[in-house]
Amino acid sequence: MSSTKVIEGKQITKHFGRKIALSSLSFIINHGEIVALIGPSGAGKTTLLNTIAGLVPLESGELLIDQKPLPSYRGKQLAKKVGVIRQQFDLIGPLAVIHNVLAGRLADWGLFKSLISLLVPQEKGLAMEALNRVGLAEKAYDITANLSGGEQQRAAMARLLIQNPEIILADEPVASLDPARAEDVMAMLVNLVSEKRQTLIASLHSVEYARKYFTRIIGIKNGAIFFDLPTKEVTDDLLAELYLLKEKA
Ligand SMILES: Nc1ncnc2c1ncn2[C@@H]1O[C@H](COP(=O)(O)OP(=O)(O)OP(=O)(O)O)[C@@H](O)[C@H]1O
Ligand SMILES: [Mg+2]
Repeated sequence: MSSTKVIEGKQITKHFGRKIALSSLSFIINHGEIVALIGPSGAGKTTLLNTIAGLVPLESGELLIDQKPLPSYRGKQLAKKVGVIRQQFDLIGPLAVIHNVLAGRLADWGLFKSLISLLVPQEKGLAMEALNRVGLAEKAYDITANLSGGEQQRAAMARLLIQNPEIILADEPVASLDPARAEDVMAMLVNLVSEKRQTLIASLHSVEYARKYFTRIIGIKNGAIFFDLPTKEVTDDLLAELYLLKEKA
């Protein structure tokens, strides 16, 4: 249901050396929410997404996924629940697109079946369906490295469709695309996620997209939550303050 907590952060803190990257952040994300993380460069957006993905260990505080502490998830359990889409897509360049898409099943399949799938694509139909959804079916057997940035982004999204996680974390998913494609991919991502009632948290540099496509915006500054509001309540003044380079004396 829409009020079910899927992610809860309780005073999460992370330093890199003496630099504080996350400073006692607390938040609750409910099932089906579409949340944009915005804030200046170095604010802590990537670090926050990486901690939720279990890639960066916490120093203090607690993160609960489906009300269970993150460290209690073993091996592939977290990968089934949480899908990550990064700016550099993490696709394997020399492989055909369809193999990269099928890699979305790694968490379900185990190594043997996954290795076999490199030779004979398993569940080809499923992969083709996903590629169709993102408009890339005709490139299924192209070498991934030869695809444009926008096409690789679509392939990464098809892989995510196959993985079908409950939660999707996207770190600047459209930053490397030209404006027309960025908007296209952004709209597609949000559509797919809402259709499947998944939960999305995406970091963005584009305030315009945050406002247009997301229902809730969390502004992060200096590793802390500066505001956390329904999109309608995010004013231009708040945004100006969020991105202000120097604090007033
Ligand atoms: N692996 C690391 N080692 C040392 N410092 C790090 C590391 N990762 C992040 N930091 C520091 O932590 C702070 C937060 O970084 P983070 O990458 O989370 O910011 P961001 O909000 O994603 O920025 P951007 O918008 O530029 O991507 C920065 O000061 C950064 O220099
Ligand atoms: Mg970042």
